[in-house]
Amino acid sequence: MSSSVPVFEARGVSKLFGPVTALSDVSVTLNRGEIHSIIGENGAGKSTLMNIICGRLAPTTGTLLVDGNETHFRVPKDAQAQGIAIAPQEINLVPDLTVAENIMLGRQLGGAARIDWKATRANATRHLHQVDHTIDPSAKVSALSKAQQQLVQIARAAATEARIIIFDEPTATLTYREEEALLSYIENLAREGRSAFYISHRLEEVRRLSHRITVLRDGRHVGELTPEEATRERMVTLMAGRPPKTGAQPRREIATTETVLEVQGLSRAHEFRDLSFALRKGEILGVSGLIGSGRTEMAKCIFGATRADAGQVRLNGQPVRFDSPLQAIQAGVIYLPEERKQEGIFPLLSIAENTALPTLDRFTGLLHLRNREMLAEVERLAIQMKAKFNSLKDPIVSLSGGNQQKFIIARWLMRDAKVLIMDEPTRGIDVNAKFEIQSVLRRLTEERGLSIIVISSEMEELLDVADRILVMHEGAIKGIVNRSDATQEGLLRLAMS
Ligand SMILES: Nc1ncnc2c1ncn2[C@@H]1O[C@H](COP(=O)(O)OP(=O)(O)OP(=O)(O)O)[C@@H](O)[C@H]1O
Ligand SMILES: [Mg+2]
Repeated sequence: MSSSVPVFEARGVSKLFGPVTALSDVSVTLNRGEIHSIIGENGAGKSTLMNIICGRLAPTTGTLLVDGNETHFRVPKDAQAQGIAIAPQEINLVPDLTVAENIMLGRQLGGAARIDWKATRANATRHLHQVDHTIDPSAKVSALSKAQQQLVQIARAAATEARIIIFDEPTATLTYREEEALLSYIENLAREGRSAFYISHRLEEVRRLSHRITVLRDGRHVGELTPEEATRERMVTLMAGRPPKTGAQPRREIATTETVLEVQGLSRAHEFRDLSFALRKGEILGVSGLIGSGRTEMAKCIFGATRADAGQVRLNGQPVRFDSPLQAIQAGVIYLPEERKQEGIFPLLSIAENTALPTLDRFTGLLHLRNREMLAEVERLAIQMKAKFNSLKDPIVSLSGGNQQKFIIARWLMRDAKVLIMDEPTRGIDVNAKFEIQSVLRRLTEERGLSIIVISSEMEELLDVADRILVMHEGAIKGIVNRSDATQEGLLRLAMS
């Protein structure tokens, strides 16, 4: 890294959204070949800062400098022209176009009159393969998983040959194998002399990857750490403004051996085969496995979104066969999908309306009464999960990514369910809030006798929250391990065996 002029600098940047101060007098620099991480709790201002740096948002006050020269971005194209690209936190691809088309969108090769599709596709494929080998460049984006879409966005940012690439939570959707590959890819970019701003709630990878770590809290710059200084405790303390809660939550024994959901020999062509397991009353069952292991497909099948080719599901001893998610919901089986954004948000409605929408039937009575009750319950749950918001009447899109997640989770927790299947529930959620969500889940199992299946890419999370962990690999169950016997290495070995 050179000690000369930084390739990029933001000086005294502030951003107001109406009455909300998202950023307040923040200054950061980025050197050539440097990976500079920005960390902070949900709503701290990370994405806002990145969106300003790449020209998607204009700062309210402050200055941006590229190679020491003051510059103004009116639109993202202006930032691109200066060599700045972003892989954004939210998926921002055209679903009906192919992977290659999305990567090269707006940058087709060939003359003005004739686009050289072959060269364009080859170029896109080259960039894609540096990030991931398994994605088919001619596949439609809509057919890809969320994780794969995230990787396509990264390839798209890299394909611009930008000198400065912003990664806003690129690993949130990834499991350990893809995460590993992506981290080495970013390390390589830095070795080639390109620079990166990097955002993640996974503090281990932040420490491993970064040359420098900046901490934001409530829109303010509250510290800068070297990787050596950046212990987990130090990072969490700076982010939260107080030391972390210590000690694992007390483990408990599940009082009953009563089975609520039983899956027997469940199979579906090309997705999974011969799955058998039982979920007990009040139990949290973790499901671990790589992307493509069939975790989500299994959940969708139990939920009635797809049909099994063979096998049986029993609920409280009775065979059930849900022809649609609606039937599953009516029977008390709820699935909270990983693609919460596409399937779950009504952008024009308020936070309160978004949260309460599927449960409006519960709040009968006069409209104003119903509203008050609804708001009170939404607010109670949101505060428990440490959601940061101004007013429940604000539009949901004004919340940070992690805070939107909390409200969607709250929405489903408001339903009376017997079995709740959650796909990546704490993805993109900061460490302290994660802790709170896990205690909410635990309390639901204890107080309401709810049984929960948690699908997660993060083994640490499963080891924290689950009573037993089921390991899937290539569509089959490799084993079920009791929490007390489980280690990260053991689970990995099981998955790979
Ligand atoms: N368009 C908007 N309108 C109003 N408020 C907004 C808007 N965008 C962001 N905010 C507010 O600005 C603050 C910072 O949000 P930002 O998205 O930058 O957080 P973040 O650090 O990226 O959080 P996360 O980890 O959840 O992604 C939040 O309080 C958010 O509610
Ligand atoms: Mg964000």
